[in-house]
Amino acid sequence: MTKRFPEGFLWGGAIAANQAEGAYNVDGRGLVQTDVTTGGSVDKPRYATFVDKDGNPGKLPSMGHTAKLPEGATFAILEDEYYPNHEAVDFYHRYKEDIKLFAEMGYSVFRLSISWARIFPNGDDKEPNQAGLDFYRSVFEECRKYGIEPLVSIWHFDTPLALEEAYGGWTNRKLIDFYVTYAETIFKEYKDLVKYWLTFNEINNTVMFLDMFGDKATDQDYQEAYQHLHHQFVASARAVKIGHDINPDFQFGNMICGITFYPGTCDPKDILENQHKWEQNIFYCSDVQAKGRYGSYAKRLWKEHRVELEITEQDKQDLLAGTIDMYTFSYYMSSVVTTHQFDDTASGNFSIGAKNPYLTYSDWGWAHDPMGLQYYLEKIYDRYELPMMVVENGLGAFDTVEEDGSIHDSYRIDYHRAHIQAMAEAIENGVDLIAYTTWGCIDLVSAGTGEMRKRYGFIYVDKDDAGNGTFERTPKDSFYWYKQVIASNGEILE
Ligand code: BG6
Repeated sequence: MTKRFPEGFLWGGAIAANQAEGAYNVDGRGLVQTDVTTGGSVDKPRYATFVDKDGNPGKLPSMGHTAKLPEGATFAILEDEYYPNHEAVDFYHRYKEDIKLFAEMGYSVFRLSISWARIFPNGDDKEPNQAGLDFYRSVFEECRKYGIEPLVSIWHFDTPLALEEAYGGWTNRKLIDFYVTYAETIFKEYKDLVKYWLTFNEINNTVMFLDMFGDKATDQDYQEAYQHLHHQFVASARAVKIGHDINPDFQFGNMICGITFYPGTCDPKDILENQHKWEQNIFYCSDVQAKGRYGSYAKRLWKEHRVELEITEQDKQDLLAGTIDMYTFSYYMSSVVTTHQFDDTASGNFSIGAKNPYLTYSDWGWAHDPMGLQYYLEKIYDRYELPMMVVENGLGAFDTVEEDGSIHDSYRIDYHRAHIQAMAEAIENGVDLIAYTTWGCIDLVSAGTGEMRKRYGFIYVDKDDAGNGTFERTPKDSFYWYKQVIASNGEILE
């Protein structure tokens, strides 16, 4: 029998500004990292492009916001390169049509992010950009028209590029003030339109990157990454505090890239290694954001790489005063941790580990593990006892458009059905889960590879990896399936 979802459970979907909006140079928007990032594929990295100090073009493998420029170089858009995020799927001009389709599916929540560079094009501007403020007001009003609750990420991998260049990005403490000014501006502006806010998307990616680099990451890399994160923690906490003062009804979530880590064997060394993996990759960030202080193991993590963090007394007070109201996370897959030799490697979504013989894998190598979602929900709820939201979950897959224009994505339906069942089990086991927003509810540009063909949506967008297409929207089979899931509050999953 299908387990029940609580009344008022929020069903919907999620996108991010830089992956969906396009219109990268419209209405006063400043540039962000993805505007200088090329397309890639599962085995070809995306590149960040630049011009060096002598004016020569160059590119370096981009890991989103962590690409480091050579001395004297500046990020640049090069003429003979293709940048998939420039147009993305043109949500900027088509949001009314898209939100109407979301409403047709029955959404009660829609997660999107505000592009900081639309509001403060350079990040440190004295005044906000009115056109940017107007755009999001109109988007939120459109949501409200259909009774859809906006769930807003304040930052989704898109610090204004000008802040990266002028201040060196988040390793610089000044970024805290710029972020807080931006957050305060949008809280005041949208205080009657938005209730749910997420401070930093997948904040733990910064440590997960280090983990993926393995021995290639130097102590200096660790020093910078942990200081960068500390600044984001303080920025998040100060924003939460200010937000609660502006509107006590505001609910704030962190946003963790949720990966369930399993020990590869019952060798105690694997069990301990796995525990330490959870501490570094998952708890390091969420303990600070949920409890207002670093976990006891943090000192060990810093010591291992001779990290000396600058943490002021004021920072400590800020962290305590700005803890989150709900634990929100993305979930796509699990990963295996072992100290033993292994032949098959599996990687995806900022993690790398041994292949799990009990699971199947997507075309992009991501493990398919719905039970891992149940495990994650129960483990985390037990630790923090905060309301939880699954704010990203989905299957990146190739879709085929049939001659009559239909798209039969039964594989995507199977993926979501299994994850919804896992959520129901977790709820049955006491977890206070309040929302589910599937990732890429409409096809968008992949963050990791820059591809369009890695599709997550219930709505197909006619655009290919070279940017060709009409951008026309077509509901897939999953669209009608999800509509029924929502109408039955998760009871009809067939
Ligand atoms: C999450 C991000 O890591 O995973 C999204 O928050 C991203 O921005 C999603 O799109 C899926 O990853 P990818 O690389 O398949 O787009």
